[in-house]
Amino acid sequence: MPESERVLISGAAGGMGAATARRFAAGGWTPVLTDLPGPRLDAIAGELDAQAIPADLRTKQACDAVVAEAGALDCLVAAAGLWTEGPAEETTEEAWDRVLDVNLKGLFFLTAAAIPVLARAGEGGARAAGSIVAVSSDAGLHGNTGAAVYCASKGGVSNLVRALALELAPRGVRVNAVCPGDVETPMLTYQAETFGGGDPDGYRRALLASYPQKQQARFTQPHEVAELIWYLAQPAAAPITGANLSIDFGLTAGV
Ligand SMILES: NC(=O)c1ccc[n+]([C@@H]2O[C@H](COP(=O)([O-])OP(=O)(O)OC[C@H]3O[C@@H](n4cnc5c(N)ncnc54)[C@H](O)[C@@H]3O)[C@@H](O)[C@H]2O)c1
Repeated sequence: MPESERVLISGAAGGMGAATARRFAAGGWTPVLTDLPGPRLDAIAGELDAQAIPADLRTKQACDAVVAEAGALDCLVAAAGLWTEGPAEETTEEAWDRVLDVNLKGLFFLTAAAIPVLARAGEGGARAAGSIVAVSSDAGLHGNTGAAVYCASKGGVSNLVRALALELAPRGVRVNAVCPGDVETPMLTYQAETFGGGDPDGYRRALLASYPQKQQARFTQPHEVAELIWYLAQPAAAPITGANLSIDFGLTAGV
């Protein structure tokens, strides 16, 4: 029996990361999970009987170590991320570094470390080379008022994906991003509770008010994003590389 395909998922203890791990496991793949150490990572690893690699991905050294421990890979899903918002002139250097180090620097070095492993997947001839799916955001495609730092990080991710897709095409490695709007995950809860001025429900209502569906607007669910990520990792998605695929109810359709 051939060995199952393997996917390394960062942010695997988070909303979208865990949903993605479940989707790949349901499709018969072996998920390898990485996130900050803690009970949430232990829980999803236990649920899926999956390998967990606890790590803080803010350094190249940590990214290299995670990929080395993960072993053979057919896909990397880079979903670790942090949110921040607030006026630019009040932004501290610490806040900039914290968000950029996770959302952009960590994503880049995790991806860079995985390139030879993913290219190798295709060298034996039996399988296609692997692919990379980065979780960017609508904030990677347009500006969000009051979220300049987060937008800078995700704009970097979205353009990084385009450049890497060109660089890695000759080796058969596809590189894409998904760009969700607001997704019902712990990050959204954190946003509403931390930046909602004591009115998290009002914060959520304000987000939904910007959607073209108006009264019918709702947040995307993590499993809906996971389905798109899953598709992008499949052979059927062979022609898709360098793409930033919106999954946002049309939030960025007018850009
Ligand atoms: N929730 C949304 O509305 C939304 C919308 C668009 C894009 N995104 C992006 O989707 C991705 C997944 O986010 P989510 O909504 O599932 O949020 P989440 O907070 O549930 O998950 C993010 C995960 O990243 C991990 N992480 C943070 N810092 C880390 C570090 N230093 N090292 C390793 N892991 C670290 C967290 O522990 C967490 O488990 C993120 O990149 C986020 O920016 C989220």
